[in-house]
Amino acid sequence: MTCADLVVAGLDQLLTCGGPAPKTGPAMREVGLLEKAWIAGCQGKVIFVGSEKEFKEKVNPAENARIIDGRGLVGLPGLVDAHTHLPFAGNREREFSLRLQGYTYQQLAAMGLGIQTTVRATREVSREELKDLCRKRLRAMLLNGATTVEAKSGYGLNYEDEIKQLEVVRELAGEQPVSLVPTFMGAHEIPPEYRTERKAYIELLINRVMPEVRQRRLAEFFDIFCEPTVFNLEETRQLAEAALKLGFKLKIHADEFIPIGGTELAVELGARSVEHLINITPEGIEKLSRSRTAAVLLPGVSFFLMMDKKAPARELLDRGAIVALASDFNPGSSHLLSMLFVLQLGVFTLRMTVEEAVNACTINAAYALDRQDRCGSLETGKDFDLILCDLPSYLSLAYELGRNPVKTVIKAGRVVVQDGHPVS
Ligand code: NIG
Ligand code: FE
Repeated sequence: MTCADLVVAGLDQLLTCGGPAPKTGPAMREVGLLEKAWIAGCQGKVIFVGSEKEFKEKVNPAENARIIDGRGLVGLPGLVDAHTHLPFAGNREREFSLRLQGYTYQQLAAMGLGIQTTVRATREVSREELKDLCRKRLRAMLLNGATTVEAKSGYGLNYEDEIKQLEVVRELAGEQPVSLVPTFMGAHEIPPEYRTERKAYIELLINRVMPEVRQRRLAEFFDIFCEPTVFNLEETRQLAEAALKLGFKLKIHADEFIPIGGTELAVELGARSVEHLINITPEGIEKLSRSRTAAVLLPGVSFFLMMDKKAPARELLDRGAIVALASDFNPGSSHLLSMLFVLQLGVFTLRMTVEEAVNACTINAAYALDRQDRCGSLETGKDFDLILCDLPSYLSLAYELGRNPVKTVIKAGRVVVQDGHPVS
């Protein structure tokens, strides 16, 4: 008999989202639904998932085990946010207001605003101030069900401030419950001081910043904003190849506005994921659907920028691509902290089924971060990351809008949110 230290008993529904990971095609419609389910963990790992009868046969709760009553609740894996620009300072409220008056996101960028506004603000703040900002955001993400979050640098755009962002992420990883996956994105934009010497900035990244980030293990992934006005295809290739050589895993922001071959390059180089894809081409869809590169769709961007165009989720899913959803939390194009809202946008704006959206926010998002062996599903041996929602059934994850149903969050076997409030 196995010994459990935490048990959730008699959940109305439990979605295990069990693998194999990643899920594609018909498997995306399977969420591993169990009714009247019991789940138990020991030392932060899942040791049992099943019925009450099986539980009583197989599991022996420790004397001081905590037993949570799951009646009336729906349980699912802690949500995984596979794409955020977490460590930034300031906000872009004024630019938001300008957009409402008719300026486009790209026009603002061409005026020296956009990402550059946030670069100025992020360079100005101290490490402690930046950390406080991120801590508050992570708390909000957790309350909305995210237990693993990727975090990109990319608003420093110089040696000191890129490292500052990544060090803040590293420190926060040990100080609060959400697991963080750091990505170095010095190639988010060309900084103003290098406008006329793009090559020199790329060389600074390749020769100085990237080797140090790698050597200090400050980031696991490398990401590039591939767009004609930011890094063109040739520059993206140069940066991506250098990153792979240094041992980074690769992500690419591609086809957000103008497709220039970023998706095709990501597939060719075996990137773990390619993100945005609002304007992916038919050739891009074809290549991506036959690859192991995950398509990370960010429906918050089309919503927040009020674009009619959306990423072609249905076509990607129907052709067997690996589809994940993420928030793209950032101050300019998706100021959005709730993965539950992302799941809902996946359903309402990308026409995904609830089951597909759930898998895209859990198991496939974990795959996009190369964390599929640890999180994203509730299976024996994986991290005990579970959220309990006050809903009549899992369909209401998408059906019921505007109320946060997350009551309890368990992270690595510890209750970190109770009755909708953080446990300190
Ligand atoms: O993923 N596309 C590039 N980067 C972010 C936006 C950054 C910003 O506007 O500050 C994105 O959408
Ligand atoms: Fe992004």
